[in-house]
Amino acid sequence: MAKDIDWGNLPFGYMETSKSFVANWKDGAWDEGTLTSNHTITMSECACVLQYAQTCFEGLKAYTTSDGKVVTFRPDLNADRMADSCTRLEMPVFPKEKFIQAVIDVVKANLDYVPPYGSGATLYIRPFMFGSNAVIGVKPATEFQFRILVTPVGPYFKGGVKPIKVRISDRDRAAPHGTGDIKAGLNYAMSLYNIVDAHNCGYAENMYTDPATHTYIEETGGANILFVDKKGTLITPKSGSILPSITRRSLITVAKDILGMKVEERKVNKKELKKFVECGLCGTAAVISPIGQIDDHGKSIMLPSGMENIGPVMQKLRETLTGIQMGTVKGPEGWVVEIN
Ligand code: PLP
Ligand code: COI
Repeated sequence: MAKDIDWGNLPFGYMETSKSFVANWKDGAWDEGTLTSNHTITMSECACVLQYAQTCFEGLKAYTTSDGKVVTFRPDLNADRMADSCTRLEMPVFPKEKFIQAVIDVVKANLDYVPPYGSGATLYIRPFMFGSNAVIGVKPATEFQFRILVTPVGPYFKGGVKPIKVRISDRDRAAPHGTGDIKAGLNYAMSLYNIVDAHNCGYAENMYTDPATHTYIEETGGANILFVDKKGTLITPKSGSILPSITRRSLITVAKDILGMKVEERKVNKKELKKFVECGLCGTAAVISPIGQIDDHGKSIMLPSGMENIGPVMQKLRETLTGIQMGTVKGPEGWVVEIN
């Protein structure tokens, strides 16, 4: 039985659900892991995560399809990316097959919280890991906890697919050869001041440029960026310091193989912005959120697609991707994983 929740008006927020998955690493090995209804964590005041931010996370979603199944989307890629994050942060990898099984198990244990087809809401799945034992010298923990929590969510940006306004940021998100390409909690901690400031100034997000030269567009605080030029080519920034978005990688395949579009993954100079006809953010949380206006230090770049509606190319991409996720469009083999 679905919970009595106003699915159509859910924010992108946290709600405690029935179960989370939890596994612990101790003495060099993971335990079996289990589902728990305890949603509180107790640990040492000197835990490595609290002192030195040794933590990383993932984000994926479960969807109800048009024929009533519950599915998730490419969890293998989240397992792979989390393995990269863990390796970079001196944390043990949670094995891929177990990761995928744990995602399935935790969604199964929370079926009441999976929003119905057509509601506009989804079940957000948040795997995360942290160093849990006490350290005081700067060194990695030796004990870790891997958890997966789930929570039903609505659109990441208020208004759903209403175009948003962003600003080119003066601050940096990730250093060259730093941690921009992994999903480390620290990347988000250092963006908090800037996102609060952006919101106070009337922007939905910060668009970051490459920290070495502030010339090339990288990504926003929580999503990769897509552009469309006059010829209808899809262009997406290439950089070693942006997160390899699973949504972006999937959209590139959708654009090329399903929609027959031309796609370029390359450096995007700030100066090119005024030539694009559409722009959007893409990510698990953002899905595709159109951008209508980009402010660059006093200059406003107004995308021809405007501030009222999503542009036609972003709309087609969004429709096709969400169609694959909700079972109305056939996607490549293996993208959709059935839960029940
Ligand atoms: N970029 C950043 C910084 C993110 O936090 C996210 C969210 O996960 C993304 C991009 C989008 O990645 P994905 O499509 O895998 O959710
Ligand atoms: C996601 O899209 O899953 C994210 O992690 C973005 C965000 C909420 C930081």
